[in-house]
Amino acid sequence: MEEKKILENRQGEVFTSPNTNSSPVGKKLLLESYGCQMNFSDSEIVASILSEAGYTTTKEIEEADLVLLNTCAIRDNAEQRIRHRLDHLKSVKKKNPDMVVGVLGCMAERLREKLLEEEKLVDLVVGPDAYRDIPRLVEQVEHGSKAVNVLLSREETYAEISPVRIDSNGVTAFISIMRGCDNMCSFCVVPFTRGRERSRDPKTIINEATDLFNKGYREVTLLGQNVDSYRWNLSSKGELKNPTEEAMNFAQLLQAVANVSPLLRVRFSTSHPKDMTDDVLEVIASNHNVCNYIHLPVQSGNTEVLYRMNRGYTREWYLERIKAIHRIIPDCAISTDIITGFCGETDAEHRDTVSLMEKVQFDYAYMFKYSERPKTLAERRFEDDIPEDVKGRRLNEIIEKQLAHSLKSNQKQIGTVQKVLIEGNSKRSEEHLCGRTGRNSMVVFPKESYEKAQYVMVRIDSCTSATLMGEVVSVC
Ligand code: SAH
Ligand code: SF4
Ligand code: F3S
Repeated sequence: MEEKKILENRQGEVFTSPNTNSSPVGKKLLLESYGCQMNFSDSEIVASILSEAGYTTTKEIEEADLVLLNTCAIRDNAEQRIRHRLDHLKSVKKKNPDMVVGVLGCMAERLREKLLEEEKLVDLVVGPDAYRDIPRLVEQVEHGSKAVNVLLSREETYAEISPVRIDSNGVTAFISIMRGCDNMCSFCVVPFTRGRERSRDPKTIINEATDLFNKGYREVTLLGQNVDSYRWNLSSKGELKNPTEEAMNFAQLLQAVANVSPLLRVRFSTSHPKDMTDDVLEVIASNHNVCNYIHLPVQSGNTEVLYRMNRGYTREWYLERIKAIHRIIPDCAISTDIITGFCGETDAEHRDTVSLMEKVQFDYAYMFKYSERPKTLAERRFEDDIPEDVKGRRLNEIIEKQLAHSLKSNQKQIGTVQKVLIEGNSKRSEEHLCGRTGRNSMVVFPKESYEKAQYVMVRIDSCTSATLMGEVVSVC
């Protein structure tokens, strides 16, 4: 019986609940997010959908009626973390058997019904394109059956939903501009968990940015797995889908968001080396409110490995893109992602990654050991043949190198005066404020009478590899 209901849901049929008085008004939602910025941004959409349905959010697990974990599946350890969290929730549910537990996001999409079999306390499994369905699915659970909706969509962008900002500092916010990914990098599970790439209507993006600005926000980060492939109203043949409306690519969208206000800082992530155009770089260079910072994941410095990864560029192409950034945007910070120990990676191939790091001198990097993911091209085509200890050794080597480069990059800032947008109190001291430079470096400085959301000029006096320290010299 239970299985039949689950199947009906996956086919998207409408579930009509018995007429009872279980309106969610006054019910409490605890929403935890894991994974990338897009997942955090999705949680704000989920919060919005559930707030419309009468839920308010809480941070106290003991008082939650509904606990939702918005999960990540990018590496095995990301999934293990969720499993541990679910183990912990078992004891909470013992005390409060009516509490509904749901798994959302990428792990939900990857494992589907299997999650219900493997984790008995889970009542609800919802994939990234089915969040509008959550209120109905929760009702279904409240009426005694488990609920699953993991349908992926080619259209859903949650375009008109106004996200409820969670844990917001009231100054910086994420805006999703697209969903899914069509790239099929051989190591990556995202195309399977997030579905086909689709771009969001630019009018709704600009409205959201304008609305945030009017509410006092001063920075937005435009999010997509590959922002450079943003395209609106263009068919794959390059023709207008709707002849009465203009087309838009990422460079044009970035310009339009920058036009919202000169006081609104604009960032974006992630750029893809195979698709990043000089047009985008020109928009950064010609708008002082578009930050001089690009996250350009390289993954490996060796062309053969990049080929096996199906990344669509070579080492030389990547280095040419770095040159283009430096040519067009003076003083642009660059960060990257690197994977060590990908299938078949030889010592010589690994050394190419190290040498690329030396050449580029990234300001910051996120570094990972390769983790094989079910169903991916790499899992089907290659053997995960690099021993754990070799992956680990290579990872430690690049982490050490990056720490030195990050420190050097920060040391270069000492003595300069940087424009900083104040985000709030520093984590370590109430007497200090913190904020970021356009290059995305965190700066900590004495509070004096400065306030959140203000732009100040800070003279940088000292640093660690992670933070700059200084003093305000003037207000902008
Ligand atoms: N869309 C972005 C990346 C999204 S995932 C891009 O194309 O660059 C974030 C990072 O996780 C990736 O850049 C990659 O470095 C890492 N990653 C993805 N799959 C992985 C895997 N199977 N094992 C280890 N790291 C992985
Ligand atoms: Fe994954 Fe590649 Fe898409 Fe990034 S571009 S999400 S790494 S498939
Ligand atoms: Fe993780 Fe999904 Fe993001 S797998 S990295 S939460 S797109």
